[in-house]
Amino acid sequence: GAPIDLDLSPVAEGQAIKLFWRGKLIFVRHRTKKEVDEALAVDIATLRDPQTDQQRTKAGHERFLIVYGNCTHLGCVPLGNAPGEPKGDYDGWFCPCHGSHYDSSGRIRKGPAPLNLPVPPYAFTADTKIKIG
Ligand code: FES
Repeated sequence: GAPIDLDLSPVAEGQAIKLFWRGKLIFVRHRTKKEVDEALAVDIATLRDPQTDQQRTKAGHERFLIVYGNCTHLGCVPLGNAPGEPKGDYDGWFCPCHGSHYDSSGRIRKGPAPLNLPVPPYAFTADTKIKIG
């Protein structure tokens, strides 16, 4: 699949959108300040799959988190994008299949999933525009 260009300006703070790239589901989340602060405050030594929030976002664009949208356990689609959906215990996503909780950086925090939601290859081409791939 070719790279795709995406305008993030319609994604309001606190909201997320889903899209497909190369047949894979991707979540694009515009995090609240609280969600960013929570992600940055985590001691990564406590994580199952240790990664800093800085490793998972782009400098200067920390409010946006872009991750693949299938649970790393058995591939279900975690909840937490739409208003009113459960976000789990760490303000991220909750996978209803077997109870995995991801934090506001998409890192696995609780439940059977072994790994964080991976970050796809992307770059910012403008303040609110990205190219995925
Ligand atoms: Fe998500 Fe099992 S597929 S917890």
